[in-house]
Amino acid sequence: MNVLVTGGAGFIGSHLAERLLLAGHAVWVLDDLNPFYHPELKRRNLAAIAALQRPFEFVRGGLEDSAVLRGLFARVAFDQVIHLAARAGVRPSLEEPEVCQRVNVEGTVNVLEAARRYGVRKLIIASSSSVYGINTKVPFAESDPVFAPISPYAASKLACESLGHVYHHVYGLDIAMLRFFTVYGPRQRPDLAINKFAKLITRGQPIQVFGDGSTGRDYTFIQDIVDGIMACTSQTFGFEVFNLGGSQTVTLSRLISVLEGALGQKAIIDRLPLQPGDVPLTSADLTKSHARLGYQPKVGIEEGLRRFVEWFRRQPLEP
Ligand SMILES: NC(=O)c1ccc[n+]([C@@H]2O[C@H](COP(=O)([O-])OP(=O)(O)OC[C@H]3O[C@@H](n4cnc5c(N)ncnc54)[C@H](O)[C@@H]3O)[C@@H](O)[C@H]2O)c1
Repeated sequence: MNVLVTGGAGFIGSHLAERLLLAGHAVWVLDDLNPFYHPELKRRNLAAIAALQRPFEFVRGGLEDSAVLRGLFARVAFDQVIHLAARAGVRPSLEEPEVCQRVNVEGTVNVLEAARRYGVRKLIIASSSSVYGINTKVPFAESDPVFAPISPYAASKLACESLGHVYHHVYGLDIAMLRFFTVYGPRQRPDLAINKFAKLITRGQPIQVFGDGSTGRDYTFIQDIVDGIMACTSQTFGFEVFNLGGSQTVTLSRLISVLEGALGQKAIIDRLPLQPGDVPLTSADLTKSHARLGYQPKVGIEEGLRRFVEWFRRQPLEP
């Protein structure tokens, strides 16, 4: 298959691009290499993909640029589009809600429009567990109401889900929306807690811990997420939403203590109040994704953090 991965120079996208290539597909990555975090890290990811020496092309361009999208779709007959490019993260979305909206919502419209115009029938699109907002029913199921987002990022992902439904209903596109639950592992974004903490702990610097450590996250190891996305590439859905989680909720305190164990070093903790936009808990109900995708996360937090630290220690100095 010819597969377009938007955001393929990033954390999740680069792992996915590698897996698709190893499975025998041809992969195009569209990414603008923006400086949300250091583009050198994204170039390293692209170099790792290219090193596989399989049919791979990198196209540098922004989702906002519909001419770039149209040019690409006119040139290549894609069988599927896996749309991961986005401005990720809750806190950055509170600082720059306009950017979040423009990239995540308008960008998704542009991708859906390009797919529709050029006859691509199937898309898999990244959503997020943050759409559940302050949902109090645990675990979070796809059928739960999602009208309580608490950040512009969560709202942008909800808008993407609605747009996916529109393009399915009006134009018959086959669309899977994937709600990822806190993804970690090698190449994790530097703005995310595990990567940030690991850096500070190894330098002997304090880590900022928001709240009393009792907030819980359903951490999902990157290979499990890639397994879930790959399972979507071989089925048709009409329109469906799936949770992809790790199946165990880990408190922040426990996360820090497992990370300390994996690093062999104690953290110095700088405790701060909870931040706006932070949800107290995420927990994925995986019944539907297990039944429909055969999705079953395999890597628990101890093993996942061990593998993360193994990668972390091999990294060259920060660019
Ligand atoms: N990592 C997580 O824990 C997590 C959790 C839930 C959802 N998600 C979603 O998964 C997707 C991938 O996340 P990630 O953690 O790999 O993030 P990432 O930032 O590492 O990857 C996103 C990539 O998209 C590219 N990009 C951003 N804006 C673009 C634009 N306007 N045009 C072209 N390319 C652009 C970036 O350069 C980057 O390489 C995102 O949609 C994110 O919202 C991630």
